[in-house]
Amino acid sequence: MLLRNLFAGAILLLLSFNSYGQYNTLHIPDTLSGTTFNLNIRDTFVQFRPGNQTITAGINGAFWGPTLFLNKGDSVYMNVHNFHNDTTTLHWHGMHLPAVMDGGPHQTIPPGTIWQPYWKVTNNAATFWYHPHLHMKTEEQLAAGLGGFIIIRDAVEAALPLPRTYGVDDLPLVLTSRSFDASNAFIHVSPYGDYMLVNGTMNPQVSLPKQYVRLRILNAELERGYNLGFSDNRTFYVIGNDGGLLDAPVPVTRVKLLVGERVEILVNLGSDAIGSGVDLEAFNAGMPFGFPGSEPSTTGAFGSLLNNINFPILHINVAAATAGAITALPAVLVTNTYLTAADATVTRTLNVTDGTPGGPGGPGTPFYFDHTPFALATINKTVDLNTVEMWSVTNNNVFGHSFHIHDIQFKILSRSSGPVNSYESGWKDTYYLGVNETVTFVAKFSDYADDIHPFMYHCHMAPHEDGGLMGQFVVKDATGVATTKQPGDFTIYPNPANNRVYVLLADPAMQVYYITITNAVGRTMYMLPRPQLAGGIDVSNFAPGVYLMQLTDEQTKKTIVKRFVKE
Ligand code: C2O
Ligand code: CU
Repeated sequence: MLLRNLFAGAILLLLSFNSYGQYNTLHIPDTLSGTTFNLNIRDTFVQFRPGNQTITAGINGAFWGPTLFLNKGDSVYMNVHNFHNDTTTLHWHGMHLPAVMDGGPHQTIPPGTIWQPYWKVTNNAATFWYHPHLHMKTEEQLAAGLGGFIIIRDAVEAALPLPRTYGVDDLPLVLTSRSFDASNAFIHVSPYGDYMLVNGTMNPQVSLPKQYVRLRILNAELERGYNLGFSDNRTFYVIGNDGGLLDAPVPVTRVKLLVGERVEILVNLGSDAIGSGVDLEAFNAGMPFGFPGSEPSTTGAFGSLLNNINFPILHINVAAATAGAITALPAVLVTNTYLTAADATVTRTLNVTDGTPGGPGGPGTPFYFDHTPFALATINKTVDLNTVEMWSVTNNNVFGHSFHIHDIQFKILSRSSGPVNSYESGWKDTYYLGVNETVTFVAKFSDYADDIHPFMYHCHMAPHEDGGLMGQFVVKDATGVATTKQPGDFTIYPNPANNRVYVLLADPAMQVYYITITNAVGRTMYMLPRPQLAGGIDVSNFAPGVYLMQLTDEQTKKTIVKRFVKE
């Protein structure tokens, strides 16, 4: 009897150790800033739990990548080097940039290849992120740990009395969960993990100063939604949505954050005693069916130990205030001029359906837009450049979704289920689309026309997106004159080359849309969208041999291939 009680006690101890018994210090991702960013994607491993390490994938690290600080107005240059053993892509979620730089499913980066997109940062100060977007492999690659934050700064935000000391009073928090098998490998029996990870840390705690702190929270789950709040139900203040700051802080006690969404909040720890604690918590118990993670099962296809319960996300220990602490809530933030329904000249509807024409959908059938599975070669919508459009997305299906569209930030005009939540009243690129709900938004499609490379719209729940709940649109410049020009000729010099090759265009006015360099066996070495050619192309790391350079003309989109030799 005694022995049995002891045994039961030991199991209880073990359980509490495994759940919340012991905190780990919250990992704060490293930062990169400037205008040139080197991102190296690798297979790697992490010691998440006692025992074996877990095989993961990381960018410049082991799980999750560095936070990139970009300044609005800068031109930024990315060197994305894929050392991973699989093809991937890297998408700059929320960013307004040319489609050819977007990193969607079309900009595949084969193993060993360098992809060099660049763009001028025009987005306002806000929290964005980057992640893989390879069709049918997004879930797998996101699950392995690929992704990272992007924080954009601008002069307007910099002038506001807001916390902005990274890792001290301004924290990025990426929320996700994973399950492990007996040997500590990630398992994905269900898209809902059993264990919460914040910035890749299990059971995390952090010391935060006794003052206003800013949390930039990203839901980078595979599928789960979070109904966020604090363990003492305190009021906190939403200051920013996906694409920028709100006009003024919005007081709330709960915020729903679906996959892909970001929210910036201010939390006042100024009245908390030093040494006291409070938890950021998921209040997911009792969420209605359709909210991802509300499923009651703990095991099986959609099961998880975290399903339909409240659970702690991050334990906060209150520490002494810092010098220069923010101790007051700003009354106003920025002046946004939002688009309205009256600005729209085009309206579109989109329906989440199942795969059967007219079918009702149901558990186990894939989700599609308008009964059409995603196809890489099909352009589903064409948007005229500079048009303001109003999109209504309706979900009469059995489950909720997280709708996201590339290229733009939009304003949510209405929710058929009730008023638009005050915490989602700013610039958005992703939102929760509940069961039997229509959400209408308005946006302007400006700056980047490209008939060839599309942008995506899709559900951001990785299994849904991989399963075909995705479509694509091109932004077309209707005023552009059709051209009959032939692709321009070019010469490569020096040839043979040693460290750099230069491209001499026969027509100096010609614009290069794309350069791809492959080696003699057809392996892609470089993918250079709209390359800047004046400085030449660095081939110093190429093995000696013959290479092919394929150049695509911007106007005609025709290609010419030339060969060169690396000595
Ligand atoms: Cu976060 Cu289409 O992506
Ligand atoms: Cu979905």
